[in-house]
Amino acid sequence: MSKIRAAITGVEGYLPDYVLTNQELETIVDTSDEWITTRTGIKERRILKGEGKGTSVMASAAVKGLLEKTGTKAEEIDLIICATVTPDMVFPSTANLVSAEVGAVNAFSYDISAACSGFIYALTTGSQFIESGLYRKVIVIGADKMSSIIDYEDRTTCIIFGDGAGAVLLEPTTEEVGIMDSIHKSDGNGAEFLQMKAGGSRYPASHETVDNRWHYARQDGATVFKFAVTNMADYAAKIMERNSLSSDEVAWLVPHQANKRIIDATANRMGLTDEKVMMNISRYGNTTSGTIPLLLWDYESQLKKGDNLILAAFGGGFTWGAIYVKWAYGAN
Ligand code: UT7
Repeated sequence: MSKIRAAITGVEGYLPDYVLTNQELETIVDTSDEWITTRTGIKERRILKGEGKGTSVMASAAVKGLLEKTGTKAEEIDLIICATVTPDMVFPSTANLVSAEVGAVNAFSYDISAACSGFIYALTTGSQFIESGLYRKVIVIGADKMSSIIDYEDRTTCIIFGDGAGAVLLEPTTEEVGIMDSIHKSDGNGAEFLQMKAGGSRYPASHETVDNRWHYARQDGATVFKFAVTNMADYAAKIMERNSLSSDEVAWLVPHQANKRIIDATANRMGLTDEKVMMNISRYGNTTSGTIPLLLWDYESQLKKGDNLILAAFGGGFTWGAIYVKWAYGAN
C-alpha cells in the first residue's frame, strides 16, 4: 500500500485593514524610513484595531475563507491547530475559540506556542494526524496580534512586528506530493534573548509588572539575528541535503519574514536566486506565526503541482526548523 501523506489542499489569509507605515512610526519613536528599510526591508505592517478584538478574529476570518474556497463544510473538520504567542486569553486556547466561531462542531482543537516557528511546528504536528490515517481534514493556522505585546516606545521592536493570520487545509493523498520531510529544533537557553517576561505563572500581572513594562516582547536583536542567520540557513540546507535536492530542483524558499537580511543569507546558503524566494516583509513586517501561511497565500497563484518548497523559520525559544513540501495543486 502506498504511503499516506498530508497534502496542503488550500490556503487563505487575513490581514487587518489598518496600515502602520514607516512614516507614521517616525512620528512615534526616534527612527527613520531609511533605517527601517535598509536594516529590515519593512515599509509597512497591518494592525488589528478595535476594543476586545483578539487573534481569534483574524484566525477565524482566515478559516472561514479557507472553508469557502475549498468547498469544505465546517462540520467535516477533524482538528484545528492554531500556532500563536498572542492567544486571546491564557485559556481557553485560541483554536477552541476559532472552532466555535466557524462552527467546527466535530473538531478538537488546541494551540501551539513556538513563536516565529509556530506555524512550521504546527504543520508538522497536523500532518502526523493525517499520515497516521487517524484524520482526514486538519486545519493549521498561524496567527498573531503582535501589536498587543509590542511596546510602541521601543524602537528596536515596534518597527518590526505586525498583525495577521493564515491557515491551510491538510488532507490525505497517496500521490508523491504533500509534506515530505521536516526537521525541527529548540533551545530554551535562548529565552533570555527574546521573551515576554510577565503575564505567565512566573510573573503574573501586577502593578509592578505593568510599571516595569514587562508585558511587552523584548529582544536582544543582534544576538537573535546571529542565531537566526546561522540556524535558518543550516536547517534549510540540511533538509535539501537529506532529500538530495539541488538548488535547481527547489522551486521556492518560503522563509519566515523577520528581516530581509536573514532571508537573503538563507537563500544565498541554498544557492537560490531572488526570484525563487517568497517575500512580503515590506508590506506586512513580521507577523510571527502568520508569515509562512501568508506567503503561501500571496504566492498561491504562482505555485504549480509538484513544485518543491522549503519552508524555514527561526524564532523565540529559541525554536527553528525547515519543512520540505511538494505542492499538491495548481497547473502542472
Ligand atoms: O522573528 C523572530 C526573530 N527575530 C529576529 O529574527 C530579529 C533579528 N534581529 C534583527 O532583525 C535586527 O537585529 C534588528 C532589526 C532588530 C536590529 O538591527 P541591527 O542592525 O541588528 O541593529 P542593532 O540592534 O545592532 O543597532 C544598531 C544601531 C543602534 O544604535 P547605536 O548603539 O549603534 O548608536 C541602535 O540603537 O541602530 C539603532 N537602532 C535604530 N535606529 C533607528 C535600533 N533600532 C532603531 C530604529 N531606528 N528603529
